[in-house]
Amino acid sequence: MFSFFRKKEAFANEAKEDLAQDYNDVRAVAVYFKDETGVTFDKQESILKNKVTTFCKHRKIGSFIKLLEKIKYNSELKQELIDALTTNETFFYREFKQIEELVKLVKIAHKKVDILCAPSATGEEPYGIAIALLEAGVAQSSFCITAIDINSDAINRAKEAIYKERNVRNLSAQIIERYFTKKENLYVLKDSVKSLVAFRTLNLFDPSFAAIGKFDFIFSRNMLIYFDKETKLKAKNILESLRKDPNQEIFFGHADLF
Ligand SMILES: C[S@@+](CC[C@H](N)C(=O)[O-])C[C@H]1O[C@@H](n2cnc3c(N)ncnc32)[C@H](O)[C@@H]1O
Repeated sequence: MFSFFRKKEAFANEAKEDLAQDYNDVRAVAVYFKDETGVTFDKQESILKNKVTTFCKHRKIGSFIKLLEKIKYNSELKQELIDALTTNETFFYREFKQIEELVKLVKIAHKKVDILCAPSATGEEPYGIAIALLEAGVAQSSFCITAIDINSDAINRAKEAIYKERNVRNLSAQIIERYFTKKENLYVLKDSVKSLVAFRTLNLFDPSFAAIGKFDFIFSRNMLIYFDKETKLKAKNILESLRKDPNQEIFFGHADLF
């Protein structure tokens, strides 16, 4: 009985604390987020502050410090924060020249190749690679595509594979006709392509990431742009350790400069 009242009192105090809102200094969240994901908000503190304030208010969390305390014991909340703070902009056939280069390499490999897309965001890049390979006459039994992203919403949307006009803007009418079903103003990817990509929610910096396997070709485009110099190098080393052939260049985005 005594402990019941103690618990009730503790909850009441916590609720009171949450009412005393303090959304001023977001730096501790920035440090935490960079440590966990690599993503830095160094030059975008006000954007971060707005996003995290909205995140906290929506969940009735009274301060950034309280948020960090809760996240320690609440992995769902942590994932929600990651989903809210990562940017998943992508589209089919982005930087298509690299995909063309990959197709050439796969065609001369004369063996089944393993391809990694890290990060994939909502799936347009790995599905685009699958489509380009099929278009070039590569048999689906000749390649295996694994795609990962830290953002679980993005991965769920990738698995659904339903896209808007702007996501397919670089695809020709023939490709759209062959690989999508149009439903009102949406483009639904056919199961024959969906089945060619295995998606997972994964953090590149998670120690378990290395167990993902080894790959003939690795795409890692437009993620390093969110990292500082030191973290870019760390990410590059992790990705390089996943290559089957240490001489094979990784496909980074043109803006991912080191
Ligand atoms: C702009 S998207 C790039 C998608 C695609 N590669 C492209 O170039 O269009 C960047 C993605 O990096 C993901 N990301 C950021 N940090 C990550 C990490 N530590 N591990 C895995 N993915 C991460 C984000 O969730 C986001 O979906």
